[in-house]
Amino acid sequence: MTTTTSRIAGKVALITGAASGIGKCTANLFAKHGAKVVIADIQDQLGEAVCEAIGTSNSTYIHCDVTKEEDVKKAVDTAVAKYGKLDIMFCNAGIIDPNKPHIINIEKPDFDRVLSVNVTGVFLAMKHAARVMVPKKEGSIISTASVASNIGGAASHAYCCAKHAVVGLTKNTAVELGQFGIRVNCLSPYGMVTPLATGFVGLQGDELEKYMSERGNLKGVTLKTDDVAQAALFLGSDEARYISGQNLFIDGGFGITNSSLNTVEYPKNI
Ligand SMILES: NC(=O)c1ccc[n+]([C@@H]2O[C@H](COP(=O)([O-])OP(=O)(O)OC[C@H]3O[C@@H](n4cnc5c(N)ncnc54)[C@H](O)[C@@H]3O)[C@@H](O)[C@H]2O)c1
Repeated sequence: MTTTTSRIAGKVALITGAASGIGKCTANLFAKHGAKVVIADIQDQLGEAVCEAIGTSNSTYIHCDVTKEEDVKKAVDTAVAKYGKLDIMFCNAGIIDPNKPHIINIEKPDFDRVLSVNVTGVFLAMKHAARVMVPKKEGSIISTASVASNIGGAASHAYCCAKHAVVGLTKNTAVELGQFGIRVNCLSPYGMVTPLATGFVGLQGDELEKYMSERGNLKGVTLKTDDVAQAALFLGSDEARYISGQNLFIDGGFGITNSSLNTVEYPKNI
């Protein structure tokens, strides 16, 4: 491998929710850049397939429900037992509840389930990553938040709360773990095609991309899972060695756009 394709060579990464979507794409990219990858998910067949595709010498699949502390502990301990350490924890597993816009129609179990996976799951992953990173005095913890971490109206109430909470956890943990040389950041993507998003919006593939592009700020570019994986690669690598406590938006400026101000008209021939 050349240095340009080995930005995290020798590092060990654990990715939750790596059987599908953003996590799967990131697992592939991390392995391509020289990392050993532990793929943690509850979809065993899909997770095993991701591992097979990467190669079993560089990756391991482990069943891990992020809402269960014993599963998260075991996943972290497996990374350390198999590869000797944990350098990068990517707390990425997430769900969304049924698309019900009215708060009066939302069932408490649906609300609780989203907070359990998207907040408690991130807390447990951070906790057990810190457990093994603190003695080493280094490490990078990354979580997947969302544009819904900063604005209202982009997703369900539970999802919006949960992603705001991920930012809070990121900031608090970054402050605590800075003394140990551990960086803690999160990523906030706009919408892209994955089973989570297609299920929530009710549109597939190209149709969902068209829907998102029409509502997005940055035209002529379509957000893909690889864009998020590339940002995770950056935050996991030594290129980001002084970046901590940040919420990195991968949203083409969507989150800072106020559509009522978007009135600049250009001549047709520009
Ligand atoms: N797709 C988008 O538009 C979008 C935008 C912003 C943020 N996100 C976030 O990205 C992350 C990844 O989602 P995705 O879009 O790739 O969706 P996805 O459905 O493709 O992947 C989510 C993965 O998480 C796993 N998972 C669910 N519950 C779990 C649990 N209890 N324990 C372990 N794994 C579990 C699923 O099995 C799945 O493999 C989520 O945190 C999501 O909120 C997605």
